[in-house]
Amino acid sequence: MSIQYLRIKGGTPLQGEISVSGSKNAALPLICATLLTDQECILKNVPDIADIQTLLKIVKFLGSEFTFENNTLTIRTEKILKKPIPHEYVKGLRASILLLAPILVRNGRVQLSYPGGCPIGKRPIESHLHGFKKLGAHISQKNDLITLTSDPSLIGAEIVFPEASVTATENILIASCTAKGNSNLKIASFEPHVQDLCKMLNKMGAKIRGFQSPFIHVQSVKKLHGVTHSVTSDYLEVGTLAAAAAVTRGEVRIKKTPVDQLDILWQKFEEAGVPFKLDGNSVTILPYRHKLKPITKLKTGVFPAFPTDLQAPFTVLLTQAKGVSKVFETMFEGRLGYLFELEKMGAKIEILNANQALIIGPTKLRGLPIASCDLRAGAAMVVAALCAKGVTEISNINYIDRGYENLDVKLKKLGADIERFQV
Ligand code: EPZ
Repeated sequence: MSIQYLRIKGGTPLQGEISVSGSKNAALPLICATLLTDQECILKNVPDIADIQTLLKIVKFLGSEFTFENNTLTIRTEKILKKPIPHEYVKGLRASILLLAPILVRNGRVQLSYPGGCPIGKRPIESHLHGFKKLGAHISQKNDLITLTSDPSLIGAEIVFPEASVTATENILIASCTAKGNSNLKIASFEPHVQDLCKMLNKMGAKIRGFQSPFIHVQSVKKLHGVTHSVTSDYLEVGTLAAAAAVTRGEVRIKKTPVDQLDILWQKFEEAGVPFKLDGNSVTILPYRHKLKPITKLKTGVFPAFPTDLQAPFTVLLTQAKGVSKVFETMFEGRLGYLFELEKMGAKIEILNANQALIIGPTKLRGLPIASCDLRAGAAMVVAALCAKGVTEISNINYIDRGYENLDVKLKKLGADIERFQV
């Protein structure tokens, strides 16, 4: 298998305009939700990234027919074939767990091996199984196979999740729309991608209310129909590109920005002293000459707190702040690993424990060969390389390609000295 890597020469302030792609974490559940109906569904603004291609390979295997061109997916699943999904398909994609709901609803039975995903920590599925059990599904687990059955059908219920889980909320939303009886989800996630899923399900005929809060009401309906829906922009890509613009002290306008999904990022930019301008659905990061200010505590949490998926890219910025910032990653115990790579580049970091670290700045970063250990850590390495003096080579960029559409092409358009190589 060929190895791809990025070579970046840092120090160039990014300049210009760029549009972000559709959200990976919205497109994945939306595609799974289209399996609920045998009618045609059209999804626009779908990012053409590795995770989407992997999911499309799985749904094709299950009998979906689709075309996917120019970020538009036209898909129809007349019936879902009753055959086990190959282990290697599921292993490569955490979001494959979102297939449990539509297959169970359509076929009354589903079997799936435990999902894969980034090595950022334990990825529990208890919240998923808890929700399905409450809806009356029978669950059996043998080796690493999960089997759910629902005879004759799922029953609406009051579901209090053991903790807020994005994909568990999405699975139970998909499963409960046509259950017999209404459902109330409590301690539900309501990240922008969960909200986008609810909007599309409602356009398919579902009756979901309260999805801008942890208390979501699902009124039972008989059947769902086809839909045309445009995937919400990727607020995580906005945050990543904004951090890249800020760390290079450039001037970049990011279009198709869902401004209202990033209140906490604008607050942290203000705290750090990054100048920016919001107008309509774009943000412009402005150039500056002053030293950035440290962030007392960059604490991640469930929406609307600071997104865990932006923690790594944003922390690179903190290496340039004058003073000590504290990073508190509350969600994943393995999501600070990239700090060791940052240290190699010259950052001054004190790891307090698996979830907390102090970033002492400002420090000059210097380019050198580094590896990306997960999707968002890989993006953070790109941000660091853009800031570093000299050339950085980033390997394992397959992680980055899982979640960012043409990140290197977008950065090159903004003037970055970045090349993709294949050996
Ligand atoms: C989704 O994963 C996302 N993936 C992840 O994005 C994201 O990091 C995560 O939500 C959190 O926002 C997709 O949407 C496909 P969880 P999921 O069940 O559903 C702990 C990326 O980079 N937790 O919401 O698997 C919990 O125990 C990927 O795009 C708390 O600690 O995640 C679990 O370990 C990576 N406290 C972790 O967070 C809480 O209050 C994630 O939980 C709630 C959860």
